[in-house]
Amino acid sequence: MAVQTTPLSDVMGAEVTGIDLGKSLDGSLKEVINQAFLDYKVLCFRDQSFDIAGFLDAAHQFGSTHPHVYRHLRLDDFPDVSVVSNEDKDVHGSGKKFKRAAHFHTDESYKAVPAKATLLYSVKVPDEGGETRFVNMQTAYETLPDKTKQRIDGHMAVQRFLTSNPDIQLATLTDEEKAEVPDVIHPIARTHDETGKKALYVNAARTEFIVDMDPAESKALLQEIYDHSLMPEFQYHHHWRVGDLMMWDNRCTMHAATHNLKPGAERLLYRTLLDGTKPV
Ligand code: SIN
Repeated sequence: MAVQTTPLSDVMGAEVTGIDLGKSLDGSLKEVINQAFLDYKVLCFRDQSFDIAGFLDAAHQFGSTHPHVYRHLRLDDFPDVSVVSNEDKDVHGSGKKFKRAAHFHTDESYKAVPAKATLLYSVKVPDEGGETRFVNMQTAYETLPDKTKQRIDGHMAVQRFLTSNPDIQLATLTDEEKAEVPDVIHPIARTHDETGKKALYVNAARTEFIVDMDPAESKALLQEIYDHSLMPEFQYHHHWRVGDLMMWDNRCTMHAATHNLKPGAERLLYRTLLDGTKPV
């Protein structure tokens, strides 16, 4: 069966069919997929079938992987893989279930060298709800008023794992984990290392303030950017099917999980992160 790429929306995302990521991809197919990845920013490979080892092998066809900061999310035999589940609990803190990844964010923006891409593979998905929502941050940047672009170009913002935003629910960090994620500073608009295009690189979940800017001005400017980037026309909402492997480009997108499952519904996915480059 021939590989086919079909857009999932007008703003971003494409479905890739006719490909089994359990089999080794040749160089030309990898190039086709990488071009689709750069064009669409979010790819959904349908009808995949993996155990955890197979999922990690599939991810390694696209690059090297690394583990999550949270040690408790690392699987013993496959530390680069974590499980995303609607049963996630704060294992070091209250022990209560919490709504992981509920706010728009870019994976690992709090690291000096964040993940280029995230891969998420669905093992169990609900009939309704549990979507992953994506934002095209390149289009969001390109459609900003020129005046706003001038205000942000060349400016940096502080990204923090343990955000001061009281709306964000996070499991607590151990001392070892804390030491791994000191505050970092990244451009407000980063330039994609493969396409050369700029994309917004701030989000309310992790961005604390703009460096060298009056705090009130920084807060107002960040809010203006968030309000703009969260406009529905920049979003694609993915309704999962079992066997979807989603791969998204953290250099030019944000995403959020939707915690709207009906009682008794289950959502379980395997997740890993591809190594990236320092944002510039
Ligand atoms: C994530 O933020 O990596 C998970 C997103 C989701 O569960 O939909």
